[in-house]
Amino acid sequence: MSDAVYQKLLRCYDCVSGRIQTRPEIGIVLGSGLGTFAQEVQIQEEISYSEIEGFPVSTVPGHSGKYLFGTLAGHSVALMQGRVHYYEGYDITDVVLPVRLLGMLGVKTMILTNAAGGINPNFQPGILMMITDHITSLIPSPLRGKNIDALGVRFPDMSSVYSKEVQGVIRTAAVRAGVSLREGVYIQHPGPNFETPAEIRAYRMMGADAVGMSTACEAMALNHMGVRVGGISCITNLAAGMNKTPLTHEEVYETAKRVEDDFKRLVTETVREMI
Ligand code: HPA
Repeated sequence: MSDAVYQKLLRCYDCVSGRIQTRPEIGIVLGSGLGTFAQEVQIQEEISYSEIEGFPVSTVPGHSGKYLFGTLAGHSVALMQGRVHYYEGYDITDVVLPVRLLGMLGVKTMILTNAAGGINPNFQPGILMMITDHITSLIPSPLRGKNIDALGVRFPDMSSVYSKEVQGVIRTAAVRAGVSLREGVYIQHPGPNFETPAEIRAYRMMGADAVGMSTACEAMALNHMGVRVGGISCITNLAAGMNKTPLTHEEVYETAKRVEDDFKRLVTETVREMI
């Protein structure tokens, strides 16, 4: 199975690498809340996911997503505007294909961003949380199947998925950007349904501070291939059962929009400070 996974990755890599002049050092996955981040970047090249044969394309009509290559704060960057989620029905190896491809293009550091529900009772909607660790045990591992030796080892260590160095950079960037930053553990829920209150109580006991439906599987695949990872969640809502009103996607979207400027400044300063 994984030979097929690697062959597909190589075909997508050939397609993209043949079309770009830029060699990105830093990759950024733009989650909900960073929709307009691309405006901060001097874009040199752009490739729609739908132009890459075999590439997983989001099932949301009109939102297939794209790679953008350019310069930001003196660094060469690759943006992923749009990602695919496990809940869309893709194999988990397809879900991580886009970030793996950036690693193969030479990206040394990836900043993963997302919207998440706050489980930590001290969190309010609108805060930004740096991810210090994650729980992915609820979804299949993207490393399942025959190991892709060209990317990494069969039994990779996961004791520091979110690089300590990058965490230091994000902390400094938060001070520079004048943004207050919390820290915590992210748990990936399979989705697409939001969680039940009982699930949230269980996740809190497991040690999670925030819950979302992306990111952790990407971080795991990147760690496997030796790419440094940083993660930032925009806490858009209190998790299920912590509020009187039911959760809606609109609530997530509205908070993400409200915090967008802080989020953009934090990511820009993170790129500027990156070592
Ligand atoms: N749960 C899961 N994913 C999310 C949430 C949530 O409460 N908010 C934003 N993404």
